Amino acid sequence: MSLLPLLNQRFAAALAAVGAPDGQALVQLAGRPEFGDYQMNGVMGAAKALKLNPRELAQKVIDSVDLAGIAASLEIAGPGFINIKLDDGFLAQRIETALTDPKLGVDALPRQRVMVEYSSVNLAKEMHVGHLRGGIIGDALARINDFVGQDVIRQNHVGDWGTQFGMLVAFMVESRKAGEAEYALKDLDTFYKASKKRFDEDPAFADLARDYVVKLQGGDAEVLALWRQFVELSLAHCNDIYQKLGLLLNDGDVRGESFYNNDLPVLVDELRQQGLLTEDQGAQVVFLDEFKNKEGDPAAYIVQKQGGGYLYATTDLGAIRFRARELKLDRCLYVVDARQALHFQQLFTVARKAGFAPASLQLEHVAHGTIMGKDGKPFKTKSGDSIKLGELLDEAIERAYQLVSEKRPELDESARREIAKAVGIGALKYADLSKNRTTDYIFDWDTMLSFEGNSAPYLLFAYTRVRSIFRKVGEWDSKSTVALTEPAEHALALELSRFADVVHQVAHDSQPHFLCAYLYNVATAFSRFYEACPVIQDGQTNASRLKVCDLTAKVLAQGLGLLGIAVLEAM
Ligand code: ARG
Repeated sequence: MSLLPLLNQRFAAALAAVGAPDGQALVQLAGRPEFGDYQMNGVMGAAKALKLNPRELAQKVIDSVDLAGIAASLEIAGPGFINIKLDDGFLAQRIETALTDPKLGVDALPRQRVMVEYSSVNLAKEMHVGHLRGGIIGDALARINDFVGQDVIRQNHVGDWGTQFGMLVAFMVESRKAGEAEYALKDLDTFYKASKKRFDEDPAFADLARDYVVKLQGGDAEVLALWRQFVELSLAHCNDIYQKLGLLLNDGDVRGESFYNNDLPVLVDELRQQGLLTEDQGAQVVFLDEFKNKEGDPAAYIVQKQGGGYLYATTDLGAIRFRARELKLDRCLYVVDARQALHFQQLFTVARKAGFAPASLQLEHVAHGTIMGKDGKPFKTKSGDSIKLGELLDEAIERAYQLVSEKRPELDESARREIAKAVGIGALKYADLSKNRTTDYIFDWDTMLSFEGNSAPYLLFAYTRVRSIFRKVGEWDSKSTVALTEPAEHALALELSRFADVVHQVAHDSQPHFLCAYLYNVATAFSRFYEACPVIQDGQTNASRLKVCDLTAKVLAQGLGLLGIAVLEAM
């Protein structure tokens, strides 16, 4: 059992034993070192409920709690807090156990089928900076859930359907005839703009595009085949980006909007049969009392437009229905921009009402903020165009290359390129993941590529520093036992023993920045340890300390790995 649940369990038992069976232990990490390692905050609440003096109750809890071999000291503080200092022998034992466990002491959580939907780009256009956060965060959450034993199903709900595809297919056919389609499709945005121009300027072309839309929706084999070619080319572009960014997404995870097309009339019928639909100005609508529009009337969730067309919102109902019935999920994480929050609240409400999503299915919009430029507006190029993701990734790698070349001019070119890739991409990812997911942040190359502070370069470098100790030491006795004596050893051992609690929390709350903050703490605790506690002294290797180093390296590598960041052995 990881530390927090263990402490909570022991204190809950003690509260019950002293006559407060409903009391909550509320154990937390201590705010300051002088408060010990952890604090138990549940006494005041229990004392209030029982009308007892909290400090007296705290003493009873201390007398009763079974923390033999776990806590070195328990002290009452203030109105009735209990400060907990963990036992060095206990922490040493946790380190030994973690070192023998491929999961480093992180136990599996109750197994669920968890979907992580992320990226979900619209295929008509090239991937841009707006797609960065969702991709990075979703990928980390998929890795973390997998690590804690969940059945992870990744879904890439790409926008591959809708009227613009008629236009794009028409333009693909036309430019193919001119022998330049493959060339033109190399740059999707230019392709999109050119086809839009044709559409706006040439009525014959526009007619053809509209004809394709009708044929596409009617399932015309020939037009469908053309559409599929376009989708494949677009997806190939996405795959390049995923690969460069090191995302786990692949073709098997793609289930685009088009997939649900045939279900849409069926689900609209189901809504009708359940009496949930109202006709409003020719459209089919679910009115939601839970949400008010500007006039204070129930908000309208439109599922079918006047004229019969379906919408983004309808497709999402199809997706939920499929995810519940066919994918048999227990938990759905939608990693999507916070600006779609209302859509998801309404979607989840309609899906519950219609029974598409049973009460047992957890639905969560894992919302993320926007990446801003220095001017405080969404990050754009100087001319106001969206920043292409491919170009941004190249720039990250190039900047890292300059940096590495400055720091390590003696390395040969290919080694510097290799390091630059890891540092550049790692920096981009870490800068994003270390920020609170729900808020916006300002994009800044300098802080993300800095070797100081809570950044990828700092952590990657910290890892290589630990690894270099082992190269210096050579052979060592990994069978000797861990013994902790110095405060800096205790502090580092405590951090290392918290890994499981942190990973569990992130799996639960989908807030990767807590894992980043934790890894940064590990790295700084290691620095202090390394200064205060020599690993090699008078030519003698301290094997206990080397084991602590070993776990530090493993936790850093695993932690960064869970964020989708690969470590380097040297840099
Ligand atoms: N393709 C959409 C967009 O670019 C995002 C899709 C999010 N996922 C969902 N299930 N609605 O805005």
